[in-house]
Amino acid sequence: MITGNQNTDYARGLEGVVAAETRIGFVDGINGRLVYRGYNIEELAESSTFEEVSYLLLYGTLPTKAEFEKFTARLNADNRIDDHLFKALQECTKASHPMSALRTGVSYLGSMDKDSNKYDLPSQEAMGLRLMGKFPSLVAAINRSLQGKPMVRSNEPNYTVRFLEESFGKKPTEFETKVFRTALILHADHGMNASTFASMVTISTLSDMYSAITSAIASLKGPLHGGANEQALANLERIGSPKNADNIISEMLEKKEKIMGFGHRVYKVYDPRAKILKEYAKKLAEETGHSELFETAEEVERVMINKLGTKGIFPNVDFYSGIVYKSLGFDPRLFTPIFALSRISGWFARSFEYLHDNRLFRPRSMYKGEVGPLKYVPLQDRK
Ligand code: ACO
Repeated sequence: MITGNQNTDYARGLEGVVAAETRIGFVDGINGRLVYRGYNIEELAESSTFEEVSYLLLYGTLPTKAEFEKFTARLNADNRIDDHLFKALQECTKASHPMSALRTGVSYLGSMDKDSNKYDLPSQEAMGLRLMGKFPSLVAAINRSLQGKPMVRSNEPNYTVRFLEESFGKKPTEFETKVFRTALILHADHGMNASTFASMVTISTLSDMYSAITSAIASLKGPLHGGANEQALANLERIGSPKNADNIISEMLEKKEKIMGFGHRVYKVYDPRAKILKEYAKKLAEETGHSELFETAEEVERVMINKLGTKGIFPNVDFYSGIVYKSLGFDPRLFTPIFALSRISGWFARSFEYLHDNRLFRPRSMYKGEVGPLKYVPLQDRK
């Protein structure tokens, strides 16, 4: 029998539990809307920059020109990663998934920041900005390590351009920059997902911003969270051609397999992010000789909506992002680090917001074990 003061309210996986208040972002799963601080995602994706959106998430309004310049100057004040870290990333990527390298990289940067034991708000803000400023070079360096190539150092101040330039060693075209910037904006924040929650749990202990982001990266690594776009692309490549889509998808559904890139816990209509990425995926695929991949995706979408649309199953953001990243030339193993390159702004903004009215996260578990009291038996007497 279980005794003691046990709370009987239990939500497995905290599903449906409201654990914080926020003014940062709203996911309207019924009407298919994603809102950052009152702005529709479509509006921001079309007109804004990633830096502007990061400022908006963090401080609540779009910046004036002067605020924007000050913000980007702070991001770029110390945006380089050192050779020791690059060597470590090279070793990590030889041994394991790039997400492990990214987690190690952020932890290393935290260990090297002399302010990382200061927990007041201005110090947390400064650490977040320093880390975010280094992120394009950090993820690009992981990409270079994966390719077995030396690090590239660009003086480019723009977050998107610097990342693309340091990843591939050449200036991106205007269209590549626009597409990638849009993908970054679309992934910047998305409610109380697992990695965002992980960052908030860590910051709620009054730990430092590097530790909060390290926790988030560790959570994003799992295939139930950040890894779906890598698998969605692998599935499309396996299907290979639009004419195979119906048979292969039907077979997979009969075996009760999940089709990666479809369905969402919150959206029961078409994911607004997928709608935007689909247009870019089409154009990029045509330009880079991946048209058949895109046509296969469109046919998979048609088959899936036909079969499961009535259950609220539609493409999610991961379905078309893989085609976009592949067409831009990225190795699929870099897809989840690219997700982090964007989501760092949501992790940082939400952790920083939470610190303004901090309360330590400390849920309870329902004890189902033996309550005893059992008698201790010395090791030599145990059978
Ligand atoms: N493929 C096939 N069937 C599916 C899929 C899918 N991708 N998604 C849901 N279904 C089925 C469910 O099995 C369920 O069937 P049932 O009525 O026979 O039991 C029905 O559709 C309704 O499912 P929901 O309850 O609405 O789905 P749930 O909320 O439990 O799951 C989830 C959401 C986990 C995202 C699921 O759709 C899934 O596994 N999708 C594939 C993985 C994926 O793409 N993840 C990325 C999400 S977006 C992001 O994280 C950035």
